[in-house]
Amino acid sequence: KKDTYILGIETSCDETAVAIVKNGTEIISNIVASQIESHKRFGGVVPEIASRHHVEQMTIVLEEAFQESNLNWKDIDAIAVTEGPGLVGALLIGVNAAKALAFAKQKPLIGVHHIAGHIYANRLEKEFQFPLLALIVSGGHTELVLMKEHGRYELIGETRDDAAGEAYDKVARMLELPYPGGPHIDRLASEGEASIDLPRAWLEDDSYDFSFSGLKSAVINTIHNAKQRGESLKKEDIAASFQASVIDVLTTKTVKAAKNYHVKQVIVAGGVAANKGLRTALTEKFAETDIPLLVPPLRLCTDNAAMIAAAGTISYEQGKRSGMDLNANPSLLL
Ligand code: KG4
Ligand code: ZN
Repeated sequence: KKDTYILGIETSCDETAVAIVKNGTEIISNIVASQIESHKRFGGVVPEIASRHHVEQMTIVLEEAFQESNLNWKDIDAIAVTEGPGLVGALLIGVNAAKALAFAKQKPLIGVHHIAGHIYANRLEKEFQFPLLALIVSGGHTELVLMKEHGRYELIGETRDDAAGEAYDKVARMLELPYPGGPHIDRLASEGEASIDLPRAWLEDDSYDFSFSGLKSAVINTIHNAKQRGESLKKEDIAASFQASVIDVLTTKTVKAAKNYHVKQVIVAGGVAANKGLRTALTEKFAETDIPLLVPPLRLCTDNAAMIAAAGTISYEQGKRSGMDLNANPSLLL
């Protein structure tokens, strides 16, 4: 059987990324140009700045992806691009680059859902076993997705308000930590004690949904009340207590869903999957079950284009193609 090489493009937020993936499982090249430095002083991603950076970086990153690969355009079978969800202006740069390249090089075009990409980042490590449960925890998403076969996704739970990463970033801002705050909270948490009592939003008994806005408010109130009493709480302890609450809910619901749906594999995806506390807690909890847990290496947790190429490979093999009318869709459903 002939090998399949898919070129992936990702520009949904603040990383300009291009990658080439072989057979949906092997990274040939994976280039990510991060814009974090440009957004840091604003305390978050500024959409207009993100779009402009994508325009500047796209051809450079594309060239690098080919240089690192020793491949030529003639080797590429199709172009996969994130069509949504994400920042519309940022998505448009990737989608238009992909369309221009597909037209110029006469290659099939495949639109990919960003979350499908995060899920398929795991297949670059290990082959999937179905049924599979994916916990997606990123800056924009917190979801539990059940997969019974390649390319089909059943949403069994999602956040009703903030995403986990969003909660991390907001709490980090209260603690005056730099953007993005997730990694800083993670580090502080390892140095503190989870000594502050913070709520856990379990929601209804049978629900796999999440909610983090109450926790975020509780952290604000805790800091505020301590200040009024003239006490000062240690940032490390706030971080540890906040992280303990997030991890408690995420791991408990994931284990419950994995058992209930009798899955053969659990995978974790998205930027918050880089969280050391979460990785440890999930590993420990699943060690008590007979369900294998797959946690991607850090570089595949955060946004990249290898994951988009990996997910695009499945669409390619299933004969799915996008037309030249492919458009960025900031609220695309999985
Ligand atoms: O998947 P991602 O790179 O972009 C989105 O699609 O959103 O996720 C970014 C999010 C940010 O909110 C960031 O703070 C969070 O992932 N994050 C972390 C860690 N590393 C990144 N959150 C907690 N602990 C970490 N170590
Ligand atoms: Zn992402």
